[in-house]
Amino acid sequence: MDKKTLIAEINKLKEEKNAVILAHCYENVEIDEVADFVGDSLYLSRQAAKTDADFVVFAGVYFMAETAKILSPNKKVLLPNLSAGCAMADMIDLEKIRKFKIENPNVPVVCYVNSTAEVKSECDICCTSANAVEIVKSLNTPKVLFVPDRNLGSYVQSKLPNVEVICYDGCCPIHDNLTLEDIKDKKGKYPNAKVLVHPECKKELLSLADFVGSTTGIMNYVKDSKDNEFIIVTEIGVVERLERDYPNKKFVLVSPEAVCKSMKYIKLEDVLASLKEEQFEIEVSEELIEKAYKPIEKMIAVG
Ligand code: 13P
Ligand code: SF4
Repeated sequence: MDKKTLIAEINKLKEEKNAVILAHCYENVEIDEVADFVGDSLYLSRQAAKTDADFVVFAGVYFMAETAKILSPNKKVLLPNLSAGCAMADMIDLEKIRKFKIENPNVPVVCYVNSTAEVKSECDICCTSANAVEIVKSLNTPKVLFVPDRNLGSYVQSKLPNVEVICYDGCCPIHDNLTLEDIKDKKGKYPNAKVLVHPECKKELLSLADFVGSTTGIMNYVKDSKDNEFIIVTEIGVVERLERDYPNKKFVLVSPEAVCKSMKYIKLEDVLASLKEEQFEIEVSEELIEKAYKPIEKMIAVG
């Protein structure tokens, strides 16, 4: 089936089934052509909560679809490819978070949404890369535990010196593997380029940044900027979207390694099959939904 026909078929089924398609901005850029909403984790989780569709097709990774299910328990949430996991979310499980809490008793736990429902259910409040600082600040407490991303946690620590942020030792391997040398190399070639960095990167990389922010934060920075050259220190999907939206500006991906394979599994064919066969449905028990909803709800309430 050619691309035009695929898109037409998806749009037809979407209407027939009253479905909504959400796409994270690391996904294959072709997905945007059928997506109702494209953005970062915070934006997508809000859209999932608001929609009154019968089906939510999530072009993203497992934890995102699971979060959508927790927020919309009465809808069918579909992940078009079940292999789309997240290496960071897999670094912590129920046993590990319980151990971390026992080692640090009576400290509120802030949980990056890049985590499983089980892990969320053990936490006090969730955050995303867009609101992590604001969320920790809102707790108004001298100490917090931060799971699972030590890099995002250390970024929060740098912004809130009066709070002790105790980080779990997890990370996103894609961002954590990027190096200072990667940025310096690109800066050597494009000395006037602005350096835009995702906070899942190591602390030393953030020190070279003109801007640190979530994927949407980075895209908004470009939208509002008069500059013409940017070194993008996050996943390739952001660069593809920026090149599409600003053909007269120059975007340099920090490293060819900045690719999350899990975000590339879903193709237009998978979205079509997902809608047609109503696959693969995300199931979360009622009990777990109830427990994991609370920290997400608290995050959304912070605004
Ligand atoms: P954001 O979309 O919140 O910036 O998160 C980046 C990410 O790694 C998602 O998996
Ligand atoms: Fe997980 Fe990193 Fe991929 Fe995001 S980019 S889905 S955090 S492995």
